[in-house]
Amino acid sequence: LKGGSLAGKSVVVTAGGTREPLDPVRYLTNHSSGKMGFAVANAFKNAGANVTLIAANPLITPPSGVNFIRVETAAELLAEVKQAFVHADILVMAAAVADYRPAKVANKKIKKTADNQTMTLELVRNPDILKEIATIKHPGQLVIGFAAETNDLISNATKKIQSKNLDMIVANDVSQSGIGFNADNNQVTFLFAAGKQIKTNVESKAKVADQLINIIATQMQNQ
Ligand code: PMT
Repeated sequence: LKGGSLAGKSVVVTAGGTREPLDPVRYLTNHSSGKMGFAVANAFKNAGANVTLIAANPLITPPSGVNFIRVETAAELLAEVKQAFVHADILVMAAAVADYRPAKVANKKIKKTADNQTMTLELVRNPDILKEIATIKHPGQLVIGFAAETNDLISNATKKIQSKNLDMIVANDVSQSGIGFNADNNQVTFLFAAGKQIKTNVESKAKVADQLINIIATQMQNQ
């Protein structure tokens, strides 16, 4: 990777998994550790970009030399991403965002009762951050999503490029052990809006991130 290839560019990267509270002691979440998003943020920094890293509940220490913002919920992530995106050239959303949250957050710990053997939780849709970003995106701003899929990787990821109006999506098969959520390695397919596909080998998240940044740097030069 050429150092300085993204010098002067402002980049926003999201990482980690949102937590959606149910009561003061419980929440809904997913297995994201923040490793993939942190590797992307670090690779952008190495390429000379000015990086804002917005992380939901990461399990690891953030890289140095980036503007680091910590959030908990999808609503908080949305607010921070929107604010940072206004001044950004590139957004990469590696965060695993909850599509639904509990309809009510109890202010006291929810108790079990002697007679209730089952409990039903009502969930409501969270905003789709990438769809909201699509409505404020200017020409020249690059927006890249990730797609975590357990089945039909390429067709599901392709649908997300269209529905979320992305320039590119990083399709991540999360059904394979040793890659994806919380693993140190990953294997992804870069899918471009125009249809081109590039599949990586299984390699460290740092190496996958370097390939992503190289693709982005090439795209920015051709713009
Ligand atoms: O953090 P790690 O442990 O290293 O794991 C990495 C990873 C598996 C989390 C990462 O590689 C990955 O695939 N991230 C995307 C996870 C995800 O939420 O995918 P999705 O297919 O549900 O969402 C598609 C895209 O829309 C994502 O860019 C997501 O950030 C975005 N999204 C999703 C829901 C929502 N309400 N708003 C969004 O913007």
